[in-house]
Amino acid sequence: MRLLTAGVALAAILMAAAPVAQAKEIVIKFSHVVAENTPKGQMANKFRELVAERLAGKARVEVYPSSQLFSDSKVLEAMLLGDVQIAAPSLSKFKKYTKKLQVYDLPFLFKDMDAVSKFQAGPAGQKLLLSAKKKGLIGLGYLHNGLKQLTASKPLKVPSDVEGLKFRIQPSDVLQAQFEAVKAVPLKKPFSEVFTLLQTKAIDGQENTWSNIYSKKFFEVQEYATDSNHGLIDYLVVTSVEFWDGLPADIRTEIKKAMDEAIVLGNKVAAEKAISDRQKVIDSNRTKVLQLSDDERAQWVAAMKPVWAKFEKQIGKDLIDAAVASNN
Ligand code: SIN
Repeated sequence: MRLLTAGVALAAILMAAAPVAQAKEIVIKFSHVVAENTPKGQMANKFRELVAERLAGKARVEVYPSSQLFSDSKVLEAMLLGDVQIAAPSLSKFKKYTKKLQVYDLPFLFKDMDAVSKFQAGPAGQKLLLSAKKKGLIGLGYLHNGLKQLTASKPLKVPSDVEGLKFRIQPSDVLQAQFEAVKAVPLKKPFSEVFTLLQTKAIDGQENTWSNIYSKKFFEVQEYATDSNHGLIDYLVVTSVEFWDGLPADIRTEIKKAMDEAIVLGNKVAAEKAISDRQKVIDSNRTKVLQLSDDERAQWVAAMKPVWAKFEKQIGKDLIDAAVASNN
């Protein structure tokens, strides 16, 4: 009887304590490799700010820029292990998880960023967000950076100018084939190493967007840049299926909303920086920015476009056709 009374008393104490027990704050680590004054850096910081405003005490975002926590080659493995919850690697860095995203690496695929936005918002682009789901990753959205330019230690006007030159590339087989098509030597290296590789002349050039060329100071160690707009660097904002599905539904909805709003800001920053960072590079007088004539540009297209056929089977013709159609 005394035992029963004690049991009832304990249950009463636990029930009384239950309403004041707080759910543990969810910590969302967001790891990326670029500087804070970039589209991705600004987007990540805005996301942190919105979550702090709207989910105070329930969820908190910690942002780790400039490869402080993980390089892009490690971040997706770390995500699957639960060591980081959000990242936004370039679309060129998902080869191990899906071959479909290789579509974004095809040279001279999109005529401008409006065409990229159109493709990403359409059914094919939206389906691609989930192309790595079977491998445990979910794309929450796309974020723009911009079109890529070539930079080098010598002027690049026509494809024969790159013959034998070493170019750093992201870990993409399409990008490798693109540089091999013009008889250059592509080297897959992490973003965090590019500046030093250029500075020490271990490589001759690289391809990147104006915001990355400016914010990572590549322009200080490259004499020439060519306004080539030959490819794209955009991002997949990604999380793990396990983390996403494990979130309480109301918190998941708020996080997605905050992410969508942060992406809108990031895309605005991307559009502005494509113009302003290019101008800053020109104004620095350290890198000479070269323009291509229509004929020179046509030579690059003719040399690089055969790469499409090599990857058509892995990517799917339907997907390539949908991307091309977004140019109209
Ligand atoms: C990035 O913009 O996240 C990095 C791109 C690169 O690796 O060149």
